[in-house]
Amino acid sequence: MPKLGVNIDHVATVRQARRTIEPDPVWAAALAELAGADGITLHLREDRRHIQDRDLRVLKETTQVKLNLEMAAEDEITRIALDVRPGQATLVPEKREEITTEGGLDVIGNRDRVKKCVDELKDAGIEVSLFIDPDESQIEASKELGVDAVELHTGRYADATSAAEQQREFEALELAGDSVLECGLLLHMGHGLTYRNVERIAMIPEVSELNIGHGIVARAVMVGFERAVREMKELVTVVDIDE
Ligand code: PXP
Repeated sequence: MPKLGVNIDHVATVRQARRTIEPDPVWAAALAELAGADGITLHLREDRRHIQDRDLRVLKETTQVKLNLEMAAEDEITRIALDVRPGQATLVPEKREEITTEGGLDVIGNRDRVKKCVDELKDAGIEVSLFIDPDESQIEASKELGVDAVELHTGRYADATSAAEQQREFEALELAGDSVLECGLLLHMGHGLTYRNVERIAMIPEVSELNIGHGIVARAVMVGFERAVREMKELVTVVDIDE
C-alpha cells in the first residue's frame, strides 16, 4: 500500500493571492497529519509563487511525518535545503512561465548539474528522489546517480482524454515501475492524481509513495465551502435583542 504525501502548495497559492497570512499551509499540514497523511510535500519554487522560505522552516519544526521538499537542482534552493534538511528532496524541473511542473526532469541532459545537487543532498543525509517521465533511459540515468527513489510523472495518465489513451499511459507507468524496481530504487508516483483516477495507480503493488496536491486542495475548498458560508452567515445575522 503506498504512503500518501500531501502536497500543500496550493493552500499557499490562495494565501499568496492576497499576500496575507491565511490560509496557512502550516495549519493545512497539521490537519493533513491528523487525517492520516504519511508525508507533507511542498515545492519551494525559485519565483516563490506559493510556498515561502518561512513555510519550509516552520514545517521542518512542526511536521512529524516525512517532509518532502520538491526543488530545482539550483544552487540557491540547494543551499536552503542543506540548511533546513528535510527528510527527502525530490528534484523537479522548473520553468518560470509554467503553470505547474510540466514534464519530468531530464536527468540525461542535465547530468552534471543534477549529480552535483544529488551528491550534496545525500552527503547531508537527505534522501533523494528524482521526478522523471516513465522512460527507460531516464530511469537508468537516475540509478547511476545513486538516488534513493524516482517519482514517475503520472501527468500523461491523468490528462488522457479517452479510455484507450489512459490504458496506454497506465501500462507505460506499470512497465516503467518494473524497471525502477529492477534498478533497486523505491518507486514513487504523482502529478495530476484525483479522486477519479487515483485508485488504479494506488493498486500498483510496487508503488511506495504517492504525492497528491491540487486534487486534495480542490476537494477541500468544495467540502468546506458550505460550512464556511454558514459560519459567516451566523456572524452577519444580527440578532435583534429586543425580540
Ligand atoms: N509530484 C511532483 C514532483 C510535483 O511537482 C507535483 C506538483 O507540485 C505533485 C507531485 C503533485 O501534483 P498535483 O498537485 O497535480 O497533485
